[in-house]
Amino acid sequence: MTVTEAPSLPRDIGGKNVGRPIDRVDGPAKTTGAARYAAEYPYPDLAHAALVHATVSRARITAVDTAAAREVPGVIAVLTHENAPALKPPPAVNPLNLSTLVSGTSLNYLGTDEVHWNGQPVAVVVAESLDAAREAAALVRPAYAELPAIVDFAAHEGEATPQKGNMIMPGGARKGDAEAAVATAPVSVDLRFTTPPYNHNAIEPHATTAAWDGDRLTVYDSTQNIDWFRRHLALRFDIPLDSVRVIAPYVGGGFGGKGMVWAGTIIAALASRATGRPVRLALTREGVYRTVGGRTPSIQRVALGADADGRLTALLHTSVTRRGHVGGGPEQVTSQSRHLYDAPNILLEQKIVELDLLSNTPMRAPGESIGTFALESAVDELAGRLGLDPIELRMRNEPSRNPIDGKRFSHRMLREAYALGAERFGWSARTPEPGSMRDGRWLVGMGVATAYHPSLQFAANVTVRLSADGTVLVRCGMQEMGMGVATAQAQIAADALGVPFTAVRVEYGDSTLPIAPGAGGSMQTASVAASLLAASEKLKRSVLTLARRTGSPLRARRPEAVEARDGGLWEKAGPGETYAAILARAGREHVEVSVGADRGLGAAVGQARFMGKVLLDRRRWVKAACGAQFCEVRVDPDTGEVRVSRWLGSFDVGTVVNAKTAASQLRGGIVMGIGMALSEETLVDPRNGRIMNPSLAGYHVPVHADVPPIDICYLDEPDPTMPLGLVGIGEVGITGVAAAIANAVHHATGRRVRDLPITLDRVL
Ligand code: MOS
Repeated sequence: MTVTEAPSLPRDIGGKNVGRPIDRVDGPAKTTGAARYAAEYPYPDLAHAALVHATVSRARITAVDTAAAREVPGVIAVLTHENAPALKPPPAVNPLNLSTLVSGTSLNYLGTDEVHWNGQPVAVVVAESLDAAREAAALVRPAYAELPAIVDFAAHEGEATPQKGNMIMPGGARKGDAEAAVATAPVSVDLRFTTPPYNHNAIEPHATTAAWDGDRLTVYDSTQNIDWFRRHLALRFDIPLDSVRVIAPYVGGGFGGKGMVWAGTIIAALASRATGRPVRLALTREGVYRTVGGRTPSIQRVALGADADGRLTALLHTSVTRRGHVGGGPEQVTSQSRHLYDAPNILLEQKIVELDLLSNTPMRAPGESIGTFALESAVDELAGRLGLDPIELRMRNEPSRNPIDGKRFSHRMLREAYALGAERFGWSARTPEPGSMRDGRWLVGMGVATAYHPSLQFAANVTVRLSADGTVLVRCGMQEMGMGVATAQAQIAADALGVPFTAVRVEYGDSTLPIAPGAGGSMQTASVAASLLAASEKLKRSVLTLARRTGSPLRARRPEAVEARDGGLWEKAGPGETYAAILARAGREHVEVSVGADRGLGAAVGQARFMGKVLLDRRRWVKAACGAQFCEVRVDPDTGEVRVSRWLGSFDVGTVVNAKTAASQLRGGIVMGIGMALSEETLVDPRNGRIMNPSLAGYHVPVHADVPPIDICYLDEPDPTMPLGLVGIGEVGITGVAAAIANAVHHATGRRVRDLPITLDRVL
């Protein structure tokens, strides 16, 4: 499709490095163990902390017996609500003010005698060694006066209330009369789906090392958002923003679980303040389950109506999710259903029920990952009723404008993604009849589903310094959770400034750097790229001005007539010189520029203006990453065992900055989706709200043997409305995965599984 508006920033910036599969610059540090994570920072007088978790859902703490714990050799302090220093409570949540969303829960940890979920930290032990802290923590005996608690999601589905949408996260929507259109459609499906709660299992469990120096706090944390953490800590400890420094150069995976401030971070800083010692609080795997929110479970209904030719007449998608009384947010479970199919009648509804459980929190593609499971399973089922190939049904209903409101797509190449994927995967070899394909004793199934994730952008501050030796330093408080952000931004800077990739160094992961958006919402790369491109342009102009003033052969009047290449500035087919020559003649050690790098009020105004532009842009365009997930499964007809044997993801993700790290991101999403579909499930005891499987022994994430080779292909077409044409790739990979597997299982066996995970008992 054609887009008439000019791109917000130019794509053509040389293209020597952008797109190439360059090895990540932080790779050697990670593989040799030189990279330091939050629990690895040494302090000579470091103390260790361990949490004590509540074992009831709702209660008042009547007493805490700490005598035995205090007897353990090496124990420095046992802090409870009775003796912990007071903190300011978390601020009230306002969905329009992102900085109020930063607290994982609304609870004032160790500042209240109230218990709001089973697992809530009710005490912390600080000791000379980790062993002593953990031994003593096990000896702390809280006594409770229990209160009635509501913890069973399925039993309380009927109490859900409508969830309001906001500018970032849409709520319900309605067009025509979908209910009536489904009822009268010649062909229809009306289905109920459920997905369980899922927990975060990053390789690096959450950890904090906190140290006070007078009234200044330094925190090494495993965080996706150093700026939000800094703001929240300043607020809670009632100290100026500049007195808090958050450092996180390496984070061992995040996926949304490290986007908010949870108990461990607050309590580590609190324990350090109370004891006057630097304190490390490294959560156990169980500690992560007890104190960090996971993905909400969902109950969904998808009803589709079609005419005999497979044109949709109605699309209805409703969801019920949960949050905790102490926090958690809605999920945009029906979000993709606004964008994927052209139907004259659409009804989308999202409801939420509040329980006495830990808050839910974002987990990779919150909303769309489970929403696409229901929608894309239903579409497959409708294709079966119609006797149509599931790809053909999708193509017959591919919209030219956004179905729910007629907005334009900034770009959309879902047709092309399906065509490319079907060809490379060999979809034409599929025989449509369920159970018709076999390989020896295995039943073979092939399934497909659409991937979809919206594209977002946030304000980023960047400083770029060009030195006399021709090297470039990019400074930006980004976060690196394994995606290779420094590599991607160095590729962009190298092309923008016409220097070799190896001449660029990127500093990140420290709150003293210019503020960047958090690594979340698939928006970090595009957001930082926008400011980096703007800064590079500004830098070129500064250097050009300097060159002219000092008698350079560069005579061009307009900066547009000058290009950055070969380590300097050159007139097109004319004279020029290297950066080194320009700076040497001017007697300058470096030239530095900043974009949006204000602090204080200036930053707030700049952010507000930027967000205003982004929101205006969102009123004009629908922007997203999308794709087609193709999978092949083998099902054992006797045991019901499902093995994923082949995968291909074909994506429309705009410009790809680094072919290697991009493919890794998409693969990682697919692996996480395989876990979501087949084995992962948090088991909550309906009697007392306690998570029963808080470890990798009881909560099964995919291991290497569960994951086949994953082929990734993409179209590499820039989105004309996004910086450099980037739309974000962090989350789209997981979407559609569970549906593709469920559809393949149906194709193999004739069995429809509408409740995740697809375990043996549900297949047989
Ligand atoms: Mo995320 S769920 O945007 O880390």
